[in-house]
Amino acid sequence: MDILIVGEGGREHALVWKLKQSPKIKKIFVAPGNAGTAQLATNLPISSTTEIIQWLKENRVGLVLVGPDNYLAEGIVDKLHKLKIPAFGPTKKASRIEWSKVFAKNFMKEAGIPTARYKTFRNLDQAKKYIRHQTFPLVIKASGLAFGKGVIIAGDIKEAEEALKDILNKKVFGDAGNEVVIEEYLEGREISVHAFCDGNDFALFPSSKDHKRAFEKDAGPNTGGMGTIAPVPGVTRKQMQEISEKVIRPTLDSLRKQGSPFKGILFPGIMLTKEGPKVIEFNARFGDPETQVYMLLLKSDLLDILLACIKGDLKKHTIKWSKNSASCVVCVSGGYPSNYVRGKVIRGLNTPKNKNEVIFHAGTKLVGNKVFTNGGRILGVAGVGRNLSKALLKSYTVIKSISFDGMRYRKDIGSSLVR
Ligand SMILES: Nc1ncnc2c1ncn2[C@@H]1O[C@H](COP(=O)(O)OP(=O)(O)O)[C@@H](O)[C@H]1O
Ligand SMILES: [Mg+2]
Repeated sequence: MDILIVGEGGREHALVWKLKQSPKIKKIFVAPGNAGTAQLATNLPISSTTEIIQWLKENRVGLVLVGPDNYLAEGIVDKLHKLKIPAFGPTKKASRIEWSKVFAKNFMKEAGIPTARYKTFRNLDQAKKYIRHQTFPLVIKASGLAFGKGVIIAGDIKEAEEALKDILNKKVFGDAGNEVVIEEYLEGREISVHAFCDGNDFALFPSSKDHKRAFEKDAGPNTGGMGTIAPVPGVTRKQMQEISEKVIRPTLDSLRKQGSPFKGILFPGIMLTKEGPKVIEFNARFGDPETQVYMLLLKSDLLDILLACIKGDLKKHTIKWSKNSASCVVCVSGGYPSNYVRGKVIRGLNTPKNKNEVIFHAGTKLVGNKVFTNGGRILGVAGVGRNLSKALLKSYTVIKSISFDGMRYRKDIGSSLVR
């Protein structure tokens, strides 16, 4: 069959890379894709939901796989269902768990899913009054999708008031900030959890860890992700079991009971606290850059799993994961996550010499036969090895031969976890 993948990041390149290995797939289209996906698939110069739907009316495919959150929030999957086109990802209603943090918090409270204590506000004065009696640090979140920038960890009341004013009054995140969540700061280790879901059943991925902050030692602002590793050393089978039972299972059950069964990837951010795992947030899609390491570890045919999730018979499948470790170090443009320039030529992309080293493209663009930078996060340099340190060695060896003007990457991805 032919398939279409929606998105243009490292996540989508990794999904194309993996699906390319599926013998049942004839042709892969990507809308709009990047220079990496162009080497493996056919990029389409379209990116809006309307353009994608129009293209699909004229070109039949057997599956559409949606990468980014904003398409899900716009209801692209509902539109594809109406056209009877098989689509992997949750409906608009089911993905609300990601696009409304207020909904997600109230949902967790009702379903008894462990999460940070919180209150929600639409009114600045009421929010300001509430924080007077709270302890700091305190976490302030814009409710809607804010490109990973809508969360402020306020160290004191002044910072908290500033954040509330920015979100609720100055509307720095637009309508995403019509409502805020104010919540307790959780101490612990943060991990990413992914589960394939078919509405009723689920299958957990290995644990992974993103590195959100821009600079070494977790300094600087939050980013879309500077690197990932999987599995996370020290995270036990028992902890993953607890996350299954206390988070994933009740989430799927409650969403189904509400009439919006969740089919797709459920990806909660989890804080492993002294009192057990607590949900930081829910995402309703594959993580980026988590997917880059996951696709290197997944042994089963991804197409079979995606179709099983859509059909609702995930139970019939056994999903196999490699026992190896994987790492992905992200190369970004100078200045990222603030201002950066595009259009720098990238050298050294042909370095990987074996299948355990892969360069995934994110913000790249093919012009003639040269690859240019075209965004903030440019490449994810991934490696696989028998253990984490061997995987990291691969990523960091390959990265040394890559260069572009202003290129920067974190030198300490996974380093605190190597044992
Ligand atoms: N209650 C909390 N306690 C401690 N850290 C938090 C809390 N909520 C969020 N964070 C930190 O802020 C980051 C971003 O928050 P998150 O809710 O995941 O929003 P988003 O990914 O939409 O920006 C998290 O990855 C985590 O590091
Ligand atoms: Mg997050």
